[in-house]
Amino acid sequence: MLYAVMDTVRAIYPGTFDPPTNGHLDLVSRGAKIFDHLVVAVLRNSSKGAPLFTTAERVEMLHESTRQFGNVSVETFDGLLVDFARKQGARAVLRGIRAISDYEYEFQMAMMNRKLDSALETVFMMPAEKYTYVSSRLIKGVYQLNGDVSELVPPNVLQRLQDKRTARLTTMGGEVPGEV
Ligand code: PNS
Repeated sequence: MLYAVMDTVRAIYPGTFDPPTNGHLDLVSRGAKIFDHLVVAVLRNSSKGAPLFTTAERVEMLHESTRQFGNVSVETFDGLLVDFARKQGARAVLRGIRAISDYEYEFQMAMMNRKLDSALETVFMMPAEKYTYVSSRLIKGVYQLNGDVSELVPPNVLQRLQDKRTARLTTMGGEVPGEV
């Protein structure tokens, strides 16, 4: 039987992405396989405090590392995710669950978003096992202490982290151990 696909599903993959990690990209590639179009949406003003990378830098990094996907775009948003999703014509929000510890936060967010817009579904996907412990926060912490994160972030992000460190060392006029 031939099934005619009349409808396309556009989904939003929102986050802070400070910086994007291989775990994020793993999720993008999984999302790109099941949604017709995936919008990676970078939150402009996060309540998480001063970001390491500017919004423009995060968008550039995501553009660079998602350009191989024909159905993925990168946008920024502010305010409520449900409002952004509505403007984008999205029917789903994609979020990653790495471990049980993510569940409570993700469950609350999904329920709040459902309360705000019952037409928007949240879809959870799990990244590859090798990325289940990877988070942007840990990457920044390890990198700031000169740890090796080369297997956990895409090459362009690693380069940007190195550039940040070099720029900082130049400004400080010398070596500052443990600082990006
Ligand atoms: O990568 P993060 O930091 O876990 O992503 C969190 C994000 C951006 C998905 C979340 O903070 C968000 O959706 N912010 C927009 C504000 C909003 O819609 N709040 C109501 C739902 S809880």
